[in-house]
Amino acid sequence: MKKIDWEKYRQLYPHLKDQLYLNHAAIAPMNRRAFTALQDFCTKRLSEKVEFWPDASEKKAAFIKTLAELIQAPAENIALTSNTSSGLNTLALGLTWRPGDRILLNDFEFPSNVIPFINLRRLGVEIDYVKHRNGIIDIGDIRRAVRPQTRLLSISFVEFMNGYRNDLKALASICREHEMIFSVDAIQGLGALKMDVRNMDIDFLSCGGHKWLMWPAGLGMIYVSPRIFDQLYPAQAGWMSLEVPFDFFNYHQPFAATAQRFEAGTFNTMGIVMAMETVTIMLEIGVETIEEKIMSNTDFLIRRLQESGFELYTPTEPAHRSGIVTFFHPRAEDLFNYLRENKIFVSLREGKIRIAPHFYNNHDDLERFISCVNTFSAD
Ligand SMILES: Cc1ncc(COP(=O)(O)O)c(C=O)c1O
Repeated sequence: MKKIDWEKYRQLYPHLKDQLYLNHAAIAPMNRRAFTALQDFCTKRLSEKVEFWPDASEKKAAFIKTLAELIQAPAENIALTSNTSSGLNTLALGLTWRPGDRILLNDFEFPSNVIPFINLRRLGVEIDYVKHRNGIIDIGDIRRAVRPQTRLLSISFVEFMNGYRNDLKALASICREHEMIFSVDAIQGLGALKMDVRNMDIDFLSCGGHKWLMWPAGLGMIYVSPRIFDQLYPAQAGWMSLEVPFDFFNYHQPFAATAQRFEAGTFNTMGIVMAMETVTIMLEIGVETIEEKIMSNTDFLIRRLQESGFELYTPTEPAHRSGIVTFFHPRAEDLFNYLRENKIFVSLREGKIRIAPHFYNNHDDLERFISCVNTFSAD
């Protein structure tokens, strides 16, 4: 692993002083650099730079370039959204559907990756759900569920319940074989695991920023591959979707040649200011190093939970692990409350405990968590 001064990065997260936050699969904490950047931006706006637009447009362009580096995509294929759901609606509403077209999902997805597609049933579109097998989405099941009318597969990079990491490359190859569009909800993976959308052959990606990317809530991104770019109509268009937005009365001008066409109006400037700092931190450490650190945390948690005799809901096969570890506990809700009383924050999901440490967490943090779980369980 690349040599990193992790202590320096821990200093960016002051909440570490009096709580143990292991819940990045839910909501991300703030860091000092993002906080300072926002403070500087607001201080300027407060007294001198009331007109922020030119400055903000530059910031946005720089941010999109940084995102391009993060996911290994051309900047012109990236647009900003407000969250994962709005991005997936851009896809669902922008494709041209015929009655009888089918969409392939699974019954383990977070609703953001289901509702935008269910909503298309009014157009005669049918949804098929692959059933998960005890938290595993079997790729053979997906292959068998494809029908001649299936036009789209949409799936999470990482499943929110138990951190099951789907094999995106293998799924993409099924999509290519059957000429289906491949869509990924990346929110539980991006920021924790490396992502190369071109190498993974993803057609469409949507990702909210408020989890592993550690952006403020209300900002997300989409990637629209060159392959589907012309098939996807900007169904939620506005003045910012146009080639020259400031040519106000030229209503009939073409849409922007880039993914900017999928953005309708004014963007989330303060969100961008903060998110830019966090992505810069991630690129500074290196996405590979972040993934290695996160995987080392996951491996540690899995081993220590197994040693303590707990049954895991997270797959133990390394290729399918991510930043999330979920386990069963006979008194999960009481344990969850006990952990909170001890200022340890995790999620309670469907009667199971879900832990999601980020790159700045270390094995000492996790040992503290295990020791609290063991103390509770011995009672
Ligand atoms: C897999 C997954 N997708 C999407 C979301 C959230 O969607 P949105 O960004 O639209 O709030 C979550 C969690 O909240 C999630 O776990």
